[in-house]
Amino acid sequence: MTLMSEASAGSARAEPGLYLSVTDTIELSPTVRHVRLADPAGRSLPSFTPGSHIVVACGTGPDGRVRRNSYSLTGPSFEPDHYAISVRLEESGRGGSRWIHDLRVGDPVSISTPRSAFAPVLTARHHVLVAGGIGVTPILSHVRAAVQWARSFEVHYVFRDGDGPHLEELLKLCGGRLRTYDSGDRFRESVDPVLLDQPIGTHMYVCGPSGLVDDLATRARAAGWPGARVHYEHFGVGALDPGAPFTAHLRRSGLDVAVDSGVSLLEALESEGIAVPNLCRQGVCGECRLPVTGGGVDHRDLYLGEAEKEAGDCLMPCVSRASGQRLELDL
Ligand code: FES
Repeated sequence: MTLMSEASAGSARAEPGLYLSVTDTIELSPTVRHVRLADPAGRSLPSFTPGSHIVVACGTGPDGRVRRNSYSLTGPSFEPDHYAISVRLEESGRGGSRWIHDLRVGDPVSISTPRSAFAPVLTARHHVLVAGGIGVTPILSHVRAAVQWARSFEVHYVFRDGDGPHLEELLKLCGGRLRTYDSGDRFRESVDPVLLDQPIGTHMYVCGPSGLVDDLATRARAAGWPGARVHYEHFGVGALDPGAPFTAHLRRSGLDVAVDSGVSLLEALESEGIAVPNLCRQGVCGECRLPVTGGGVDHRDLYLGEAEKEAGDCLMPCVSRASGQRLELDL
């Protein structure tokens, strides 16, 4: 691979990453495309923890900024000769998935190094892996590792209209440990006994649409699962309301930065020339985290855990805002 530094209108600092090229594309369904990326010189790529994702620079948007989307890695994780992602086309999205679906073999693609925010807990006695639709991608990576290391696991896969990406591969890997559901309702009817009938020390990993993830979180709490044993990965935040204007006071520099409605705190800081590391700009990757020293936070990200949000001493400025008129940052 080629280690690279990338600076763009969407990045307030140079980001280390990899410069790869497309080696294969496979249409898994009319809307899901599998893409393989490899080092143009044929060298092996950095190993990653199961459940890791990469941030892909997906061309530029209408505002001239580089679009960056996070995609889970689905392939083998130890010194792989390629990285693989599977992407559902979202025609109403920001254009990143369309960019991926238009890639051709040989096209160059710049990505971040793999990042882990959904790793398996190696001391878990049993793993319950739950996937909804394209949320199967990090779950597939967990399954590969569980099979390789002979860990105890079961998989619950919810998909509609016969459109289950990677279903055949999962069947081969899981055998009788895979249960499929053809609708969210069918899954909800069946899941409570699954939650109640688990050995102590079981961990659950869930990736799918917010409705499925939130519902399962509620059911797991009701069934007595400690929060530390339930791990979530959402697809990304949906459309956010523009929010009320507020002032960000930068404690160390003494600057006051006005954040208008419809403008993110990250954008407001950048317009003042203040560099903030960032990648996804969607509240998913955790890269833009900033320390908060005063004021309430309206957390809108999918990265911080509940305890971190309750502590209120940090926020993701790409999506989160002040809950009042003023916020103090340790900048
Ligand atoms: S840039 Fe990814 S969470 Fe803010």
